[in-house]
Amino acid sequence: MVSEPAATSTLLDGIGLLVTMDPAMGDGTALGALPDAALVMAGGRVVWVGPSASAPVSDVRIDLDGRCVIPGFVDSHAHLMFAGDRVGEFAARMAGRPYTAGGIQSTVAATRAASDDDLASNASRLIMEMRTQGTTTVEVKSGYGLTVEDEARALRLARRLTAETTFLGAHVVPPEFAGRPDAYVDLVTGAMLEACAPHARWIDVFCERGAFDVDQAREVLRAGMARGLMPRLHANQLGPGGGVALGCEVGAASVDHCTHLSDADVAALADSGTVATLLPGVEFSTRTPYPDARRLLDAGVVLALATDCNPGSSYTSSMAFCLALAVREMRMTPAEALWAATAGGARALRRTDVGALTPGRPADLVVLEAPTYDYLAYRPGVPLVSSVWVRGERVAPPR
Ligand code: NIG
Ligand code: FE
Repeated sequence: MVSEPAATSTLLDGIGLLVTMDPAMGDGTALGALPDAALVMAGGRVVWVGPSASAPVSDVRIDLDGRCVIPGFVDSHAHLMFAGDRVGEFAARMAGRPYTAGGIQSTVAATRAASDDDLASNASRLIMEMRTQGTTTVEVKSGYGLTVEDEARALRLARRLTAETTFLGAHVVPPEFAGRPDAYVDLVTGAMLEACAPHARWIDVFCERGAFDVDQAREVLRAGMARGLMPRLHANQLGPGGGVALGCEVGAASVDHCTHLSDADVAALADSGTVATLLPGVEFSTRTPYPDARRLLDAGVVLALATDCNPGSSYTSSMAFCLALAVREMRMTPAEALWAATAGGARALRRTDVGALTPGRPADLVVLEAPTYDYLAYRPGVPLVSSVWVRGERVAPPR
């Protein structure tokens, strides 16, 4: 039997606008956007990008008929290891009740009661949702187990779904440690860290009034770092505090939320290698004021955008929705928001491979049902993803 030879290279031709994120390419901006372009993938990687007119001959040629191609979204902050939902809490909020981190405890109870299969399939469902909307890299946190066994199981299951796993045992103090936060921090930095570190790349902590103070957060981050994990944290979400300064002090890859910042916080972020990750789905879902992205950009802070997908404060899996919020509500330009949702997310995860489309990088990309990326904010809520490719394979829509 004679079989067809396997395709070794695929040419995406007729690209109306190709966003490479290489400032040396195309329009010379941070987006390195190239009009009338083509891209060749082989072996799961981008092997050539350039003008359509000089595209090399490849085994397969796909004409994109003027569509825009962007790097896959990098969602650098998501809490996917949970069970249940909190739709009642959301409805009560929309009727005027404020968001507090207290609701986390109900998700902890549901998560502890769930089977491994239920936890894994809920997380897989959300990752599929993300993927069909253009997300090709996602970070997944623990943080709704809060016992040694439940945190380790969340990370063990998460590890099957992504390389970017984060130990968030210090999310809140669980009920059995009520009034004894220091004893809980001892557990997190001791037996829980031991059980979780083999399944995690990152250590995270919720540094906020009602969760962990700066000294407790420092202890958690330092213990994780001593165990080989890299630091990132939730800070300055519900009010001002020392979390952002702590993140810069310990060299965190990213400080996430950054909604309530002092001038000193902004200066510290600008002088550090720490990314500020903004999560506008939270402000949308909690009906609270958005972070001041322009203040951060004007100070030279590197920004990422992420969903914070979780059942309490932001139950969206859509990076495009977050990008549209960032443009409309946080006054980011469509170009700034796209950069933050791709290259910025990669920086927040200290990844030098994803978030851009240049030769040698993984062929993780999105073909938009639109001629430019501006449409992501211009047509909010509209499914503008034509196809999604991961490592050179089309993963959505399914063949
Ligand atoms: O990032 N801020 C802390 N944790 C989550 C909220 C989790 C929840 O409400 O269940 C967040 O917003
Ligand atoms: Fe979060």
